[in-house]
Amino acid sequence: MQRFHRLVSFACIIACATLIAGAAVEGSWLPKVPEKERFRANPYENDNDVVVGKKLFQQHCASCHGATAEGKGKRPNLHSDTIRNAKPGELQWLLTNGYLSKGMPSWSRLPEQQRWQLVTYLKTLQ
Ligand code: HEC
Repeated sequence: MQRFHRLVSFACIIACATLIAGAAVEGSWLPKVPEKERFRANPYENDNDVVVGKKLFQQHCASCHGATAEGKGKRPNLHSDTIRNAKPGELQWLLTNGYLSKGMPSWSRLPEQQRWQLVTYLKTLQ
């Protein structure tokens, strides 16, 4: 009987650990952003930048986040309070550095201007 109990507790611990490790916690990257990056202003916020940003999103991001950024499985929906409340500088930091341990790639190979245009598009999501 005791053995059975131990087995059940063990199974619970494994299940919980898997759940916590697997779930995307929205915005858990935010505390990593250095202060000076957080307050950078976005120089590319015109209507045309939205159009370009949307196109870039289709090219590079839709495969994981969905064509309209609605999310796919563990890849988060980007129509969220986290994204609405994030500062442009914080989003720029995330796109530049990624969150590799959680499966979000770095986009440092794109020119900085394109990353800002992606940020501009993200900020249009409601
Ligand atoms: C290979 C799949 C993949 C691709 C491609 C990808 N992402 Fe992600 N992205 C993820 C995952 C997984 C997370 C969740 C990370 C976590 O657990 O916090 C994420 C998180 C994010 C977040 C933070 C969401 C939040 O609520 O914290 C933003 C913003 C984001 N991605 C934007 C983009 C943009 C813009 C692109 C294209 C330039 C992109 N992603 C491409 C997988 C991807």
